Amino acid sequence: MLINPAKGFDASLHLPGDKSIAHRLVLISLLLKGSLDISNLPEGSDVLTSLSLVEKLGIKVTRKSDRLLLSNADLAPVQENQFCELDCMNSGTSARLLAGILAAKPGSYVITGDESLRRRPMLRVVTPLASMGAEISCTSDGTLPILISGKKNLHAIQYNNQVGSAQIKSAVLLAGLSASGITQVQETRSSRDHTERLLKKLGAEINVSDGRTSIEGPVSLQGSYSFSIPGDISSAAFFLVAAALFPGSRLEVIDVCLNPGRIKFLEVLRRMGAAVEIKVSENDWEPRGTVTIKGGPLKGTNIGAEEIPALVDELPVLAVAMAFAQGNSRVTGASELRHKESDRIANLVSQFRKTGISCQEHTDGFSITGSDEILVQAELDPNNDHRLAMAFAILACRSTNGQILKNPDCVKISFPDFFTRLKSFIHG
Ligand code: S3P
Repeated sequence: MLINPAKGFDASLHLPGDKSIAHRLVLISLLLKGSLDISNLPEGSDVLTSLSLVEKLGIKVTRKSDRLLLSNADLAPVQENQFCELDCMNSGTSARLLAGILAAKPGSYVITGDESLRRRPMLRVVTPLASMGAEISCTSDGTLPILISGKKNLHAIQYNNQVGSAQIKSAVLLAGLSASGITQVQETRSSRDHTERLLKKLGAEINVSDGRTSIEGPVSLQGSYSFSIPGDISSAAFFLVAAALFPGSRLEVIDVCLNPGRIKFLEVLRRMGAAVEIKVSENDWEPRGTVTIKGGPLKGTNIGAEEIPALVDELPVLAVAMAFAQGNSRVTGASELRHKESDRIANLVSQFRKTGISCQEHTDGFSITGSDEILVQAELDPNNDHRLAMAFAILACRSTNGQILKNPDCVKISFPDFFTRLKSFIHG
């Protein structure tokens, strides 16, 4: 796909619901005696994967115009001696959170995924769940498939989440709902807290203090609830960076998720020189509101380990901002990027270099020297990684001669409408 250069952006956007929150709502239906009425569910294939998995496990899914009703009235009877295969396709969140949920459920399960997901690390959830007493294993390489079966009486643990991963924390807390005692997850750098917020809303008592999140089990979740998912802030990030790159551009994203664990990239854009305004309009279960950004000249910045968990998904598009900023930028403490849908450090640097961007790969990050102009048009391969594809599209909009994007369809993982939305507000 050829993506031509743009002259600027000017728009007010409302985006489909946040992917992280959507996964949790859908998967938690397996633990709730009752029902969930959900609106603004995003249609990316990752979330649809979670939806089809809960359906396979017996959740009744009813669509009513723009709403989705999930009810957990009669879960399918489990056959103890037969493994139920759960294919999570490309979705790490589905695989890791499901492992936590199923660790205490009757039945036997095989969690697997596509080629990319089968390369990603799973020992990080298998180890803590096994220490809670779950009968769980993965391959000797620490990858999928995960097998879960047998004994289901879990006990609480104290777990130190050194990776700073919300998926690990969530898997342990979700298993902790069924474990007897106080399950505690300690974090040096806080990861996103959507699971905790949702469990609280569903009536569980969760305590957070001094970087420790605790839940006392067993807890039974019951009742009928309605949720409207705020817009996806990680999808918004692509458009917000696009506007930041063009002096005179202005972009507003309304009713978007403003969870503090997700908006660190806005702080980074501010220190790079963009004018960013954040207005929280509601703070019931998740903070939500409006972000407005105005484009202007940007300067380079450094991002260190302490900031990574709160902007990990935005690093590819922040790298695009760095490529057009004045001076040097460096990202450190981000080796987790090598374990995403692709090795985002290696792929980002190799594709940027094709366009003449001056950048270096480091074990735990990358460095970039910005330039006002990128003249070379290249064919950029996102390696089937949705966030790299969208970041490269924004790079193309600001490149003097545009760029060619290979396999643009991979954006469907999180944001199938990405190109339609981009075209609708671009100034060509
Ligand atoms: C997610 C957590 C992050 C993030 C991913 C979604 C979540 O992964 O990169 O896109 O929904 O919990 P890690 O938990 O591996 O950091």
